[in-house]
Amino acid sequence: MSVPRSEYLSNSWKDGIFANRVLFITGGAGSIGSAQTRAMVHLGADACIIGRSVEKTEAAAKEIAKVRPGARVIGIGNVDVRSYDSLKSAADRCVADLGSIDYVIAGAAGNFIAPIASLSPNAFKSVIDIDTIGTFNTLKATIPHLIQSAARNPNPNPAGTTGGRFVSTSATFHYTGMPLQSHVSAAKAAIDALMGSVALEYGPYGITANSIAPGAIEGTEGMERLASAKLDKQTRGKHVPIGRWGSVRDIADATVFVFSDAGNYVSGTTLVVDGAGWRRQGAVAVGVDEGMEYPDFLLSGEISKHLKSGRKEKAKI
Ligand code: COA
Repeated sequence: MSVPRSEYLSNSWKDGIFANRVLFITGGAGSIGSAQTRAMVHLGADACIIGRSVEKTEAAAKEIAKVRPGARVIGIGNVDVRSYDSLKSAADRCVADLGSIDYVIAGAAGNFIAPIASLSPNAFKSVIDIDTIGTFNTLKATIPHLIQSAARNPNPNPAGTTGGRFVSTSATFHYTGMPLQSHVSAAKAAIDALMGSVALEYGPYGITANSIAPGAIEGTEGMERLASAKLDKQTRGKHVPIGRWGSVRDIADATVFVFSDAGNYVSGTTLVVDGAGWRRQGAVAVGVDEGMEYPDFLLSGEISKHLKSGRKEKAKI
């Protein structure tokens, strides 16, 4: 059964606004990435979904193509964003098969809960490599195509077509610091800083570059890794001023905005989509169960056991 529009896109957008243009997305088979891709394809774009798993990437592409008759969605698996060469080949293949790259989402990310005390240097480096270096590699592999796209789609133009837009996936932990998330906080801070430089260096070519920083989003791999499965929906919503966790649609709509004719003058910034959650970040810690209070859980070394760890084997430290 296909996913209903209400799950990945609001009714605010007009069909066809991204027609004849192409999205290139890393992490596009993930929960947030597939909603972003669905939304863009629904509104006319074709897409290349990049991922590590061939099976998962191709299956997601096939499924997402169903949202619009005639949509061309290609899954390019076996690509790790830590390898510039494999990203470059994926970008070249995307242009060869679909004709261009007009929008890029650097969405691939790695996360798990760990205090610094049990974070090995390699664990810290793995997240920096995937998130920060991966975003840089994605940028390097696609920027020549984005320059061409921006030249074809001047910002603004009377037809309202857009192109030459880069969005990275950030977070809000580094605004305050976050226990058990030092690796991700450092990686995402660097991504935000990188977007500022991209906006400055490539703005004169007509390119926009921004981060989107999701808060806690329902039904995502990220939250399975960060939030205790023991927290019920009502309790966790209490910590967010808007009163609930976000949906993948909230992030997809923000992405559409930044890529659309409505987002022409938005560049070099971070769009935080979190229901104002980060402003109460101290009220809720990630990786703990109810009743585990800061700093007691750190001093006792206690973290939630109700998390997806994603760990293959025991760390060396
Ligand atoms: N706690 C502490 N350390 C952990 C860990 C955990 N839960 N999970 C992995 N690590 C450590 C490993 O022990 C290893 O360190 P070591 O060599 O010193 O032992 C290091 O991190 C790399 O792990 P490895 O599994 O070899 O790396 P990988 O490159 O295959 O995987 C991860 C990268 C660890 C980020 C993995 O979780 C991943 O692939 N994540 C992608 C999906 C994801 O996180 N989605 C959510 C996005 S918000």
